[in-house]
Amino acid sequence: EHRKFEQVTAKAHANIALIKYWGKRDEELFLPMNSSLSITLDKFYTETSVQFCGKLKKDVFIFNNNIADEAETTKVSNYLNQIRKMAGVERYAMVQSVNHVPTAAGFASSASGYAALASAAVRAIGLDIDQKKLTQVARIGSGSACRSIYGGFVEWTKGNLEDGSDCYAKQLENEDYWDLSILAIQLSAEEKSLSSRAGMKLTVDTSPYYEIWVKEAQKDLGTLKDALHHKDFEQLGQVTESNALKMHATTLGANPPHWYWEAGTISVMNQVRKLRDSGIPAYFTMDAGPNVFVLCQKKDQEVVEQTLLTLKEVQKIYVCQPGPGVSYLAK
Ligand code: PMV
Repeated sequence: EHRKFEQVTAKAHANIALIKYWGKRDEELFLPMNSSLSITLDKFYTETSVQFCGKLKKDVFIFNNNIADEAETTKVSNYLNQIRKMAGVERYAMVQSVNHVPTAAGFASSASGYAALASAAVRAIGLDIDQKKLTQVARIGSGSACRSIYGGFVEWTKGNLEDGSDCYAKQLENEDYWDLSILAIQLSAEEKSLSSRAGMKLTVDTSPYYEIWVKEAQKDLGTLKDALHHKDFEQLGQVTESNALKMHATTLGANPPHWYWEAGTISVMNQVRKLRDSGIPAYFTMDAGPNVFVLCQKKDQEVVEQTLLTLKEVQKIYVCQPGPGVSYLAK
């Protein structure tokens, strides 16, 4: 082969789901049971460089400036195998990734990780695909990663087809549409006890509430899109909070039952309700882990932050705004 394979660096931001992706109908293709909607976050991102090189005898994965262990490297290799197959290229790759997400604190984001890896790898291997297809390539690394291709407010449509061709992410509004604040509350908590992948599978397989979840998520998505369209913050907040609680309720009903919350999670939830009682609209949401994200309007950001910092379980607060989609960095 005489083609030149250049090094490509991509930057992708994490996202927080307001309507959660929870449960797959196809494990291999990462097809979800329900559609979801997220905000891309400006503060948390991953930068990944990929170069396919004829001299390498295997893939090399360097994560946060260290050679990754075998398990991590195998995951990346398996993912790259799919991209190599699409491109009809057999070369191995050098992958260097730096996570600007507080990994140890439980904000570790597979979304920004796979969105950056997909974007860099696709371009480095010379595949010419559009943004929609790129969301589908990111999806088969980690479901939530498909939403991180775009900035702002992003919907991941579940689709109905078995081959996943109608399952992709699309931008509803860009990052300048609405200046909301999203406070990422870091709690003093252990590493999360069950991965999102394992947690959703357990729930789909065993929770009697799962079927209800799928119906509710569909309804909640409609309500949220309506709130977004009208910039109705209270409606957006209420449905966000309610959707998160319903997702977590499905795990309580699983066998064995499971919960992702720690004491600090509940403290923040209670404090957010108190803020609302005092007339400040703020709403919470949690992913598959103990940390809480609090949504508020920019004008209330300072008081919400200061109030939550008084809680003893709160270690740190990262104040985020809606952030951009994938970008490519010049070397
Ligand atoms: O794609 P994963 O494995 O990061 O799963 C994400 C699951 C949730 O964070 C709980 C919800 C979501 O939509 O991001």
